[in-house]
Amino acid sequence: MERTYVMVKPDGVARGLMGEVLGRIEKKGLKIVGMKFAVMEEAKAKEHYAEHAERPFFAGLVEFITSAPSLSLVVEGNDSIKIMRAINGATKPAEAAPGTIRGDFAVDTGRNLVHASDSTEAAEREIKIHFGDAALLTYKRCDDDCLY
Ligand code: TYD
Ligand code: MG
Repeated sequence: MERTYVMVKPDGVARGLMGEVLGRIEKKGLKIVGMKFAVMEEAKAKEHYAEHAERPFFAGLVEFITSAPSLSLVVEGNDSIKIMRAINGATKPAEAAPGTIRGDFAVDTGRNLVHASDSTEAAEREIKIHFGDAALLTYKRCDDDCLY
């Protein structure tokens, strides 16, 4: 079963949207198998966003991501990587469709509430950064039998 890394960024936490994000993930039928509520260490934020190290927004992004608590998740399910990107919506809220998290609740690219891995390589890398070797959970959702 495919896994992806998802984050409710500090703006999502501060705006009280953790439950909204978790609800959308759960109701879709994806399974949350890891969860960590913490202030992200600077080294982890830099590693997480390493692909953007040369971009002008990098320093501000790292500063923001480490400024307050965020919620890290590992989400599991068929095509969970693509599905989570779709649930989050386009990076720029102005381009994010209504019905997506960013389309429904965000107006600024730098405050777009959520993150989700964009490829299998990124998912593996990001889960390792944020969860290390911590055991992810195995349990049965009661709708497993009708979804798959
Ligand atoms: P990116 O990986 O392009 O988007 P996504 O989160 O959809 O994978 O960028 C990472 C984050 O960097 C993005 O969510 C918000 C921030 N960002 C900016 O602040 N300004 C920008 O111009 C871009 C492209 C991203
Ligand atoms: Mg990205």
